[in-house]
Amino acid sequence: MAQRETWTSRIGFIFAAVGSAVGLGNIWSFPFQTATNGGAAFLVVYLLAVALIGFPTMLIEFVIGRRGEQNPVEAFRKIGHGQWSFVGGLGLFSSLLTLAFYSVVGGWVLSYIVGSATGSYFGDPGTYFGAVSAGPTAVAAHAVFMAITIGIVALGVTGGIERATTFMIPAILVLLVGLGAWATTLEGATAGYNYYLSPDFGVIANNFGSIVPPAMGQAFFTLSLGFSVMIAYASYLGRDDSLPADGGAIVVVNTLVALLAGFVVFPILFATGGAEGAGSGGAGTAFVALAGAFGNLPAGQIIGFVFFVVLLFAALSSSISLLEVPVSYITEHYGYRRSTTAVATGVFIFLVGVPATFGTEWLNFYNDVVFKFLLPIVVLLLAVFIGWFADTDAMDELGRGSSVGRSFKTVWLWWVRIVVPIAVVVTLYLGIKALYTGLSTGAYF
Ligand code: TRP
Repeated sequence: MAQRETWTSRIGFIFAAVGSAVGLGNIWSFPFQTATNGGAAFLVVYLLAVALIGFPTMLIEFVIGRRGEQNPVEAFRKIGHGQWSFVGGLGLFSSLLTLAFYSVVGGWVLSYIVGSATGSYFGDPGTYFGAVSAGPTAVAAHAVFMAITIGIVALGVTGGIERATTFMIPAILVLLVGLGAWATTLEGATAGYNYYLSPDFGVIANNFGSIVPPAMGQAFFTLSLGFSVMIAYASYLGRDDSLPADGGAIVVVNTLVALLAGFVVFPILFATGGAEGAGSGGAGTAFVALAGAFGNLPAGQIIGFVFFVVLLFAALSSSISLLEVPVSYITEHYGYRRSTTAVATGVFIFLVGVPATFGTEWLNFYNDVVFKFLLPIVVLLLAVFIGWFADTDAMDELGRGSSVGRSFKTVWLWWVRIVVPIAVVVTLYLGIKALYTGLSTGAYF
């Protein structure tokens, strides 16, 4: 078998991991979940979830990946716990399923880039969304998005993924800052910032049960946790890199991109109608609300074009990670060629995604399965595994290449043993309860 490719540098790894983390979740879902879940109240809970649960969970995946030095399924065997391999497999399965509907939304983004260039959504954003989000146009756009993803993954870890993300991530940051600066000039900017940034703790207290599940789900999803991706990526990492430092950098950049997206989206929404303009959840309302705003703002066509290009870069930097994980597993495990595997897997995932073009109810179904069940279950299993079954190895690996002291490691271990599982179980419970009470948590990615 060929030598495993590795990152050309530590920065290459960080870019690829950030590329995976920064996605539709940051620029599309985060601002709109915030808008529909009470604004700043949601923001506070989300930031806490990222820092207190997301970051320690990322270290769990890093530890498994680097210790295992293998794809996410064999990594467990290599650490000496082969019976836990199914957890890595479940993560792989989540990646597959997520890419299937992620690519459908990626296709919408392509249609909105075209729509911005031609001005076709300016008159009637609702009708345009209906036309591109379902039916033959959606299938075709889904196919194009998947084809681009396959192309990059076929080029390999360094030639494709690393090169694509080292270009796209800085581009996303620069363009978002530019859009945010433009947004300060809008009429409703101040009202937008207020809604976004001044938390009402009464709102948090009264809506705890409905805010926590989407905030937690969003925290895991945006950091690409529970999908075996970080396990796979960390397996390429050198022994002398510090896992907490790298994880911290990834979390910070990812959060920054989401926050920046809020600074773009909230002024735009409030310039043209307020948070209600965002609708009450549902995958499509965000596209309709934004497209409607672009149609009414000065220079809206250009701004809309740039915004959707940013969204496309973000979507692609994530979709290539989502495809890379199953592809590297199959090439390593069965010895097939990377390019053949990328095409075959990509086509298969494309087919799995086709039902999500039948209508947004279908898309929401895929999304719910991943968000409410697969993701928290995988994270719970990972935490129990590392906290109670592989704790000695985990502590050892966490300390390697880093200057963190014994107390950091001990706090982390107990956090992983107790706090993370409780938080995830509560989230699962609230999420399932919400399904039964018909309460929409608004959790679409
Ligand atoms: N983090 C990505 C986003 O915010 C989505 C995502 C979830 C992802 N899991 C992933 C991307 C796994 C790559 C790999 O949009």
